[in-house]
Amino acid sequence: MTEQGLLEKIVSLCKRRGFVYPGSEIYGGLANTWDFGPLGVELKNNIKRLWWETFVHKREDILGIDGGIILNPKVWEASGHVSGFTDVLSECKSCHKRFRVDQLERAKKCPECGGGLTEPKRFMSMFKTFVGPVEDSASVAYLRPETAQAIFVNFKNVVDSFHPKIPFGIAQIGKAFRNEITLGNFIFRDLEFDLMEIEYFIRENDWQRYFEEWKGLMENWAVGLGVNKSLLRWREHSAEERAHYSKRTEDLEFKFPFGFKELYGLAYRTSYDLTNHSKISGKDLSYQDLETGEKFLPHVVEPAMGVERTVITLLFSCYKEEKGRVVLQLSPKIAPYKVAVFPLLANKPELVSKAREIFENLKTEFHVAWDDRGNIGKRYYAQDEIGTPWCVTIDFQTLEDNTVTVRDRDTTKQERIAISDLKDYFSSKLSL
Ligand code: GAP
Repeated sequence: MTEQGLLEKIVSLCKRRGFVYPGSEIYGGLANTWDFGPLGVELKNNIKRLWWETFVHKREDILGIDGGIILNPKVWEASGHVSGFTDVLSECKSCHKRFRVDQLERAKKCPECGGGLTEPKRFMSMFKTFVGPVEDSASVAYLRPETAQAIFVNFKNVVDSFHPKIPFGIAQIGKAFRNEITLGNFIFRDLEFDLMEIEYFIRENDWQRYFEEWKGLMENWAVGLGVNKSLLRWREHSAEERAHYSKRTEDLEFKFPFGFKELYGLAYRTSYDLTNHSKISGKDLSYQDLETGEKFLPHVVEPAMGVERTVITLLFSCYKEEKGRVVLQLSPKIAPYKVAVFPLLANKPELVSKAREIFENLKTEFHVAWDDRGNIGKRYYAQDEIGTPWCVTIDFQTLEDNTVTVRDRDTTKQERIAISDLKDYFSSKLSL
């Protein structure tokens, strides 16, 4: 299978089986927008929940917040985004499409229609909107391009309520918006996406140590989720490439069919944000060490991880074709359904009612699928394709001895398990 062929197969599976649909499809779509279907939303929610458990609940040094999408526009002036969050674009003089200059590869003509190009100009990548009834410059607001700023502007609130001891982090998951003009590659680059970010506040002298530590934590998280480690690499940004706030950035890149590209980013933001917010808001955002009395503006190491990039990376890592079946080998922890329950035959009421009983009981603890269409082979095929780790079949033996078959997605092996043991059986597998 060619690598492009793999991308097409994944896009088609995602649409057919309800993971990802093209945005506004009945109106011809909208570039770089996608909607997540019933299975996609489960997958995304499972990733976000696991991330929160890993980096917030299981750590004593990280607290979570949920800040606004629309913040006071002064936030984006202080953060440098109004002046610095830009792409350099050239516009075609005849079809008026805009292209990122860094991606034109020295072409002097429009790649779409061959028209002449304007001189490169900076365009802001933040979406603008207006707050209130009047659309003038005084009412301009922006949709956040990163969740980080709500963390910086709430830094003092969190410190005052919790008095965390440095080093500590503040985490947030939420939508971010960017006016992306580069097209294609499925959900890799979107106008809106979910961002999982941590601002980890440290003393300046410690930044290299924590930078290295977070590299390890980010990579372990990705590999633990099921990302293929052999397709990952770290790449350091050059000085020209680094965001305006960063003194060092490294991307964790994944080898997609369209080349090595950023999965996650790690930046050392120094005290850039807290310094600017202190200056422009006039509020003292310094941190006081309660033991030593020392007061200072903390520095920050920032791991930033996109949910859609996680999803697309997992799809490429977990998609397998083998022995006449397609199998999505998602980790059971994030698979949309944990278990599927089938009566062996849909026209035998005693099998169906026993299967319904088991289905209802498992549903109280796991997200469970029900399927009584077609033959068992087709049902297995359909569940393998969406990554359901275990299938439970209720057959005639069940009616005699209260056992069922449990079939494992990856090995395709089946074992007989007592109905009374099923919940424990799946719980222990899920806790591995
Ligand atoms: N606060 C830092 C920050 O926003 P970034 O590298 O610009 O850093 C962080 O973005 C992460 O967000 C990326 O590593 C990627 O996972 C994801 N991401 C960025 N732009 C994206 C887009 N247009 N569509 C989908 N995900 C995106």
